[in-house]
Amino acid sequence: MIKEVYSAEQTRLLGKEIGEKACRGDIYCLKGELGAGKTVFTKGFAEGLGIKEHITSPTFTIVNEYSDGRLPFYHFDVYRIGSPDEMYDIGCDEYFFGDGVCLIEWAELIEEILPENSVWIAIERDYSKDDINYRRIEVK
Ligand SMILES: Nc1ncnc2c1ncn2[C@@H]1O[C@H](COP(=O)(O)OP(=O)(O)OP(=O)(O)O)[C@@H](O)[C@H]1O
Ligand SMILES: [Mg+2]
Repeated sequence: MIKEVYSAEQTRLLGKEIGEKACRGDIYCLKGELGAGKTVFTKGFAEGLGIKEHITSPTFTIVNEYSDGRLPFYHFDVYRIGSPDEMYDIGCDEYFFGDGVCLIEWAELIEEILPENSVWIAIERDYSKDDINYRRIEVK
């Protein structure tokens, strides 16, 4: 599915729609450059899971856990990870094959260790367009 959006609000709403449909064991892999809108999408996604807690990027902790939604939510940001192997050190399999929903910002950095059936969401700007708020979001 490809969706074109023209504001952060639309990205958040798409995240919310997808979060509403998320199931136990799902893994959502977000890719896109700095400031693409991955965290904006994630906030909507968490809302879709029924999470009321404030979502902050887990930049120094790699993963934040939220338990006040419909399903446990594990929000990863692997931007600062040194190598994909470090994911095993934090016990990633417990999360990936656990009882909740995982979402990973900067997933392309650890692509080799991610389960095959993960959902990939790519958020891209288009610098040929005048609209700085334009994003092309591909879900597959
Ligand atoms: N269509 C859009 N979708 C998402 N964010 C948008 C859009 N248009 C403008 N923005 C702005 O772009 C910024 C996106 O920031 P965000 O933190 O979500 O990016 P990110 O991909 O998580 O970056 P990082 O890699 O640093 O974590 C926000 O300031 C947001 O308001
Ligand atoms: Mg982010």
